[in-house]
Amino acid sequence: MRTALLEARDISKSFGAVKAVDGVSLSLAVGEIGSVIGPNGAGKTTLFNALSGFSPVDRGTVTLDGRDITRKPPHRIARLGLVRTFQTARPLGNATVLENVLAGSYLHAKGGVWSSLFPLGAVRRAERELVLRCHATLATVGLADESERYPGELTAGQLRLLEIARGLAAKPRVLLLDEPAAGLNQVETARLERTLRDIRDQGTTLLLVEHDVDLVLRVSDRVTVLDFGRLLCHGAPAEIRRDPAVAAAYFGTRDAGVTARNEGAIS
Ligand SMILES: Nc1ncnc2c1ncn2[C@@H]1O[C@H](COP(=O)(O)OP(=O)(O)O)[C@@H](O)[C@H]1O
Ligand SMILES: [Mg+2]
Repeated sequence: MRTALLEARDISKSFGAVKAVDGVSLSLAVGEIGSVIGPNGAGKTTLFNALSGFSPVDRGTVTLDGRDITRKPPHRIARLGLVRTFQTARPLGNATVLENVLAGSYLHAKGGVWSSLFPLGAVRRAERELVLRCHATLATVGLADESERYPGELTAGQLRLLEIARGLAAKPRVLLLDEPAAGLNQVETARLERTLRDIRDQGTTLLLVEHDVDLVLRVSDRVTVLDFGRLLCHGAPAEIRRDPAVAAAYFGTRDAGVTARNEGAIS
């Protein structure tokens, strides 16, 4: 049976008169790649903020492995296993790539205030393990050779991969990625696609918000389509392609419309 790891029921969030998300439900099973698509302004980021605790919902519930996380703050939700990245990468500029990933792993570090309570040897061992794990995370996203570089020296594609590695370093059960392919060229997108599959195969459940519909339909197990804050359709990629409402909103004017609409979207 398909059991939901992440389940959102009837989520609504308004900003003044704008119903940014209006009664949206979705569910994601362990080991799946799920995606949320929809035109610019459809409510994708608002839904992500609701799931990850960055913006409290007006209505609805979010559960992670059966546990209600609806009104918990982001750091509590992260500790429970749901971590998100941001649409604009926010690396620490004066720290190396490896140090950035180490910073992302702080949730599980035994350093800081605890180090005074543990024998030094144990802390050193824990730190060494943490560094090894962060190197492994960098290898997963294809940045093994860049660990001593600084974010300013990376390409747009590598910065996206670093942002993903930072999220992964927190050992999430579910990782939410907000537009991981934004600004990437074809080669970088292909690299990202491989990385997403590798992450899923290594046991992390993924939920993406993404404008690149082709990438989404190739890589996702389930897709949620939003339009003007409402759920248009929810299903496997093949069902999404067949759905007449999606076709009208998205694929109807495929050559001129969808691509232009997507490429024009920056939010
Ligand atoms: N903080 C905010 N204040 C006011 N309106 C907002 C805010 N965030 C989003 N909105 C509005 O909510 C709608 C959905 O936005 P958003 O979730 O960013 O869409 P998407 O990520 O799909 O492009 C848009 O009409 C947007 O203008
Ligand atoms: Mg957005």
